[in-house]
Amino acid sequence: MFLLYLFSSFTAVSGVLGSSPSYNGLGLTPQMGWDNWNTFACDVSEQLLLDTADRISEIGLKDLGYTYVILDDCWSSGRTANGTLVADKEKFPNGMSHVADHLHNNNFLFGMYSSAGEYTCAGYPGSLGHEEEDAEFFASNGVDYLKYDNCYNKGQFGAPETSYKRYKAMSDALNKTGRPIFYSLCNWGQDLTFYWGSDIANSWRMSGDIYPQFTRPDSRCPCDGDQFDCAYAGFHCSIMNILNKAAPMGQNAGIGGWNDLDNLEVGVGNLTDDEEKAHFSMWAMVKSPLVIGADVNHLKASSYSIYSQASVIAINQDPKGVPATRVWRHQVPQTDKYGQGEIQFWSGPLDNGDQVIALLNGGNKPRPMNTNLEEIFFDSYLGSEQLSSNWDIYDLWANRVDNATSANILNNNSVGNATIYNATALSYKDGLAKNDTRLFGTKIGSISPDGLLNTTVPAHGIAFYRLRRST
Ligand code: GAL
Repeated sequence: MFLLYLFSSFTAVSGVLGSSPSYNGLGLTPQMGWDNWNTFACDVSEQLLLDTADRISEIGLKDLGYTYVILDDCWSSGRTANGTLVADKEKFPNGMSHVADHLHNNNFLFGMYSSAGEYTCAGYPGSLGHEEEDAEFFASNGVDYLKYDNCYNKGQFGAPETSYKRYKAMSDALNKTGRPIFYSLCNWGQDLTFYWGSDIANSWRMSGDIYPQFTRPDSRCPCDGDQFDCAYAGFHCSIMNILNKAAPMGQNAGIGGWNDLDNLEVGVGNLTDDEEKAHFSMWAMVKSPLVIGADVNHLKASSYSIYSQASVIAINQDPKGVPATRVWRHQVPQTDKYGQGEIQFWSGPLDNGDQVIALLNGGNKPRPMNTNLEEIFFDSYLGSEQLSSNWDIYDLWANRVDNATSANILNNNSVGNATIYNATALSYKDGLAKNDTRLFGTKIGSISPDGLLNTTVPAHGIAFYRLRRST
């Protein structure tokens, strides 16, 4: 009992490192926004950013919290003779501060990109050795967010301190500008970023690049399973690949410093609706940034209703800021009557005493799955009130906006009178405190201390619930 109690007190404080919750006061909840990379790669321009921002605003996504518009690689054309970065004049004819002004006037925040290397990954000038002048360039152009990549780093990696110093140089330079700039590391988890990321940054990528596949292995993303210390991160990493690497890392993330599982693939490629729901739910639950990777001008109605699922976003933006933990993971053999695949159960505490849980089916057939309070509250010591209470089960997807309403919003380029959550008017924190029903899903039943929660989880799918103590 004593040991169990100690374990419980330890886990209660994990997720918030040190006495200061954020090294620069930013990132109190995971960042939300849009980044061009997953869909447009190097095909960037002022037009793309401003059109996208207008659309995000018109279809209600900005008011759902997607406020950072992030310009990824390929925006520059070199440096001036005295070393200042120059924006590509064809892509950005009015310069970067024009983009920033437009975004700020529309209540967006502006993100830009560079690399802690000689070049960016696409071969444009990088910021290694130019940290102060580049930080000044970003600050003076009204930039609010820097994504900082890891290509062409001149071999300056291989030990945590080596990578730390290289990334700290830009952290210090950004601080020195005096402008609050969200600092988003993109060193793919190399050199155990989760140990030192929150000292100098607000989020850190923990894997190679995502691609729109749920489970498909790809030799260009060589580390698989729980390989959290991956020397060669690569790219074309599937959703389950990244999630499995992230599973042990939640304990090092929390308010002010988040594990970044990469931009969302909802609405990119040919993921099924169940795959997109599982992907979005798990990114929300582990407190990854929620950064849209899709072309919002060509979004399927079903993908729109995933991005706008406020009861799932409220899990991500929960003020407690504790990433959920994977309680168990089983590999199901080929001989199983529901087919081969891996299944997982995740659970995490929420600020108001509720608990979020996920039954995740990585197999390619629907499968009955179950759990009970001992698994759900596995961190609680014996005799805990949690284990002896009855809990109501709220399905976090049951109140999803229907396809016809979503299609109307997309076709009319306006939310109209649809009841889409508006976090500008009522923040997630306040909405949760006021018990706004749109943030709590739909009650589907309850579970008692000796009960079993049974459900059938679709192929490559999720059952995603919020548990609230029965009254
Ligand atoms: C990769 C990074 C991607 C994208 C790309 C740009 O290293 O992980 O998210 O930024 O570079 O070239």
